[in-house]
Amino acid sequence: MIFRQLFDAESSTFTYILAQKRGAEALIIDPVMENVPQYLQLIRELDLKLVMAVDTHVHADHISGSAKLRDSARCMYAMGRETKAECLTHRFKDNDTLVFGRMTMRAIYTPGHTDDSYCFVMNDRVFTGDTLLIRGTGRTDFQNGDPGAQYDSIFERLLTLPDETLVYPAHDYQGRTSSSIIEEKHFNPRLLVNSRQEYIDQMNALQLDPPAKIDIAVPANINCQYQQAA
Ligand SMILES: [Fe+2]
Repeated sequence: MIFRQLFDAESSTFTYILAQKRGAEALIIDPVMENVPQYLQLIRELDLKLVMAVDTHVHADHISGSAKLRDSARCMYAMGRETKAECLTHRFKDNDTLVFGRMTMRAIYTPGHTDDSYCFVMNDRVFTGDTLLIRGTGRTDFQNGDPGAQYDSIFERLLTLPDETLVYPAHDYQGRTSSSIIEEKHFNPRLLVNSRQEYIDQMNALQLDPPAKIDIAVPANINCQYQQAA
C-alpha cells in the first residue's frame, strides 16, 4: 500500500495520499491549497492517478486544496451530505464506501467538531479529522459544533473500533504523527471523564482564540473561492 502523511507547517494540517500501489488510483484526504503543486508532483512521481479528494469537514484554519485538485487533476471532490460546501462533485453519507482502485474506505458520520465532520476507516487505521486528535479532541465552539454530539461520535463510533486501530488525525501541534484507539482510550485527557455531561462541561469551559484564518477560510471552503483567496 502507498500511504503518505504530508504536513502543512503553517496550519499544522496532515494530508494523506492513499493508493494500493504505483500506477493505481489514489485518494487524498484534507489537502491544503498552498501545497497542491507538491501533491501533484508526488502523485506524478509515484505514477498515481488521483481520482478523489475528500475533506473530513469544512476547515476553518486553512483553505482546502480539494477544489483546486478537482479542477487541475480532474478528480472527484467528495464530502458528507451534511456539508454546506458547494464545491463538490459527490456527497457521501454515513457508512458509505469510497472506492479508489482496489482500495475501499468507509465513511462514518461523526458530528461534534462541526456538523459536517466525517471520519474514514480503512483496514487497520482510521482518519479522524478534528473529531479525535492525539491526546486531544477538536474544539466545538463554532460551525455548529456540539460537544454532546462529539462525545457520542467519539465514544460510540471511534472508541468501538478495535483497540489496535491506528489513529491518523487532521492536525497535531506537538510533532506527533499517529496514535491508536487504545492509547487514546487510556491517555487522552479529554476522554477521561465519567459522563457525557462532564465532557460537555469540559468543552464549554475552553477559552480558545478563533483560528487566524477563520474569516477567510470558511467562506472560501464553502464557496470554492480558492482562486480569489490565493
Ligand atoms: Fe477543523
